[in-house]
Amino acid sequence: MSKNIAVIRGDGIGPEIVGEALKVLDKVAELYGHTFNYIDVDMGGCAIDKYGDPLPEGELKKCVESDSVLLGAVGGDKWNDVPGYMRPEKGLLRLRAGMGVYSNNRPAKIWKQLSDASPLKKSIVDECIDFIIVRELIGGIYFGEHKTEGDTAIDILKYSESEIERIGRIGFETAQKRNKKLCSVEKSNVLDSSRLWKKVMHKLKEDYPDVEFSDMLVDNCAMQIVKNPSQFDVIVTENMFGDILSDEASMITGSIGMIPSSSLGASSCGLYEPIHGSAPDIAGKDIANPIGTILSAAMMLRFSFDMAEEADAIEKAVSAYLDAGYRTSDIMSEGMTQVGCKKCGELIVSYLEK
Ligand code: IPM
Ligand code: MG
Repeated sequence: MSKNIAVIRGDGIGPEIVGEALKVLDKVAELYGHTFNYIDVDMGGCAIDKYGDPLPEGELKKCVESDSVLLGAVGGDKWNDVPGYMRPEKGLLRLRAGMGVYSNNRPAKIWKQLSDASPLKKSIVDECIDFIIVRELIGGIYFGEHKTEGDTAIDILKYSESEIERIGRIGFETAQKRNKKLCSVEKSNVLDSSRLWKKVMHKLKEDYPDVEFSDMLVDNCAMQIVKNPSQFDVIVTENMFGDILSDEASMITGSIGMIPSSSLGASSCGLYEPIHGSAPDIAGKDIANPIGTILSAAMMLRFSFDMAEEADAIEKAVSAYLDAGYRTSDIMSEGMTQVGCKKCGELIVSYLEK
């Protein structure tokens, strides 16, 4: 198969981690006889420097016209003082909205090799931690009006029934493919948008009688994720709650550097990115963990290109690399062999087999 992949290296550690993911994709192409064409796209701080715009229209167009998009990370201190509408992150938000990828899937799963890296007690980690956060990605407070008037700043949080319904259905369908448990997370004791969220979810649950449904307030959910994470199978929530809870969930698995994500909308063209940021403090030092990006590439093969076997092969290679005792510094522990970003990518490529 031949696929056009828009590649956004971005800022900070972005170029390093994406470079390793492309090596892995190249090896997959060679083993399975595919052709992956990479189309470079500028987005984020580097695009601000080059064009004065974090995502020029032409760059967005390249993404929308591709078969899928692979992204490293954007942002950094260098662009902290630019106005809000021009920040590197604004490029990412415009990309998500422009691609219409409303459904963001963020897995929280402990690799057995890394159970020591979790900050949770062993007795909690030993229960199976394996859940997915389905985050609404192109609505809510991220996309409401933002303005500052004198000494007052305003951000609008708004959701319509149809926006809630389309992500709610993804939540139920994701649960149907897993252990059939869905927890809808909101703040209905305070927010109107959350009361609407809850009402829509309760209406939807009638269509999915095979799914065990519950709802939970977001503050309680933040607590439950560290207290008893094995209770969760699929969590569905709105944009900002999903942002916060997915960082928390990633940490209990050991390292945010390991977690991939997929974002999909109505078409098969998806956006695939690790959930971590651009980590400018370690950029260019060859110490970042590229596994979140490599696993994002695997998700791209699985969800957008229907290449499940190839995706399995990447995940197996990552597992073999961990089994062999290699670790980047973020997940380093006693007795393991520390490697840099490049070496990590090369080793994973060397473990890839058909
Ligand atoms: C994420 C990031 C982004 C978000 C930022 C960089 C805009 O934190 O993907 O979780 O808040 O969505
Ligand atoms: Mg985040």
